[in-house]
Amino acid sequence: MSALLAVPRLSTPRSLVTLLSPVAEDAAKMARYCRDNRTHLAPWEPTRDDSWYCERTWLTRLDGQWQQFERCTALSLVALDPQGEAVIAVVNLSGIEGGVRQSARVGYSVAQHRQGAGLATEVVGAVVDYAFDTLKLHRIEACVQPHNLASVAVLARLGFRREGFAPQYLKINGRWQDHILTARLSPNALAVPSTPDAILSP
Ligand SMILES: CC(C)(COP(=O)(O)OP(=O)(O)OC[C@H]1O[C@@H](n2cnc3c(N)ncnc32)[C@H](O)[C@@H]1OP(=O)(O)O)[C@@H](O)C(=O)NCCC(=O)NCCS
Repeated sequence: MSALLAVPRLSTPRSLVTLLSPVAEDAAKMARYCRDNRTHLAPWEPTRDDSWYCERTWLTRLDGQWQQFERCTALSLVALDPQGEAVIAVVNLSGIEGGVRQSARVGYSVAQHRQGAGLATEVVGAVVDYAFDTLKLHRIEACVQPHNLASVAVLARLGFRREGFAPQYLKINGRWQDHILTARLSPNALAVPSTPDAILSP
């Protein structure tokens, strides 16, 4: 993939989706998001040790994320509130590959106090559009635990289609968890919303 991209600054109705910088102010914003949402995110993420919630860790991580952006191997984006003060959602594109594959995986979360208001649909949709239109990807994959009905609904609304089922696919919250595998293909014309039932049913 090209390393000559401008830093993404995606305006959505309720946020600015962008890449944080490896500076103390941004590390503090990210550490605060993780601390404030620790209980909310625990069932859906790998087990984190206490260092995950420290600003110093995030300074190092943001530096690594910046390098991944420059190599275009991953894009770790956040949605900031309109004041630019707080992270209200996270959207990661990982495993970005060019060549014959031109694909990436998407993962996301929304702050607990902003859930249930369409924010994930808004910001993940903006990143998916960016991935197709600017990164010129052909395929975006997302996996979801069958009981994560909010996430299933987001994927359905954004036009992701079920492709399969992977037993014990990821170690989440300390246990190997089954996942449904989904994907959305470019062009955007294929982005017809599906339904949660179509994702949940084999
Ligand atoms: C999953 C998550 C990102 C959704 O964020 P959100 O901003 O609330 O999502 P949206 O409001 O855009 O959409 C949520 C959808 O789920 C539906 N929903 C929410 N809870 C639900 C439930 N218990 N059962 C069925 N549907 C549910 C909502 O009605 C909505 O669907 P609709 O748009 O068709 O009405 C958020 O809950 C979160 O951060 N969860 C923890 C991390 C996570 O699970 N990440 C994804 C891993 S695959």
